[in-house]
Amino acid sequence: MSDAQKRTAGEAAAERVEPGMVVGLGTGSTAAWFVKALAARGLKDLRCVPTSEATAELARELGLPLSTLEDTPRIDLTVDGADEIGPGLALIKGGGAALLREKLVWEASSRCIVIADKGKVVETLGAFPLPIEVIAFGHKTTANRIADVLADHEIAMPARVRTAERGLIRTDGGNLIYDARCGAIHDPSRLADDLKLITGVVEHGLFLDLADEAIIGTDQGVEVLAP
Ligand code: A5P
Repeated sequence: MSDAQKRTAGEAAAERVEPGMVVGLGTGSTAAWFVKALAARGLKDLRCVPTSEATAELARELGLPLSTLEDTPRIDLTVDGADEIGPGLALIKGGGAALLREKLVWEASSRCIVIADKGKVVETLGAFPLPIEVIAFGHKTTANRIADVLADHEIAMPARVRTAERGLIRTDGGNLIYDARCGAIHDPSRLADDLKLITGVVEHGLFLDLADEAIIGTDQGVEVLAP
C-alpha cells in the first residue's frame, strides 16, 4: 500500500472531471485524494454525491457543493477506490463499510472510474475478505445462510462480523458487515448472485461489470486499465 500511489491516482482522476458535472464521490483514503484534488481545481457548477457520511464531511470542509442521490439521480462520473481489482475490472469493495451507498451511486452513474495503488491489482479476487452488509435483526441466522453459500463455493471459513473496540461496526445505513475470508473467488458472478438471494443480506462488496476504467497509481505515474 502506497499513499503516494493513491494520491497519484486520485489526482489523475480529478483531471477527468469537467465543469457542470454531477460527480459521485467514493469513500476511503484513495477517494479522499480525489476529493481533495477535485476541490483544488475549483471547477464551476459541480454537484457532488458522496457515498458516505465521512466523504460528505470531507467534501463539505473543502467547499464542494453536495447533493443527494434523491435530488440528482443521474450521475455523470463516479470516482471511487477499491480493495481489490481483478480481471475485467471485477472489484472487491467495502473495506470502509460504505459498499451499499457506493453501489447505489455507481449504478446511477454514466461512467465509473476506480482508482487505486498498484498493490490492489490481483489475478484472482478473494485474498481481501469480501464484505457483506447484513441487516442487524437476526444477523446470526443470516450468517448461517451465508456460511452455507460460501461452503457451496468451496469456501470453508464462515464470514465473521466486523467489530471495533466499541463493539459491532455499523454502516451509515445502520447495518452490520460480515467479512468472508474467501481465499480465492473462482466464480465471482455466481457468488454475487447467490449472496444476493439470501434473506437478510443487503448487499455484498463484489462490484462486477461496473467499472469503466481503472487509474492505477505507480511510482512512475499512472497506468490506465480497461475492462
Ligand atoms: C469503502 O467502503 C471501500 O469500498 C473503499 O473504496 C476501499 O476500502 C478502498 O479504500 P482505500 O482507498 O482506503 O484503500
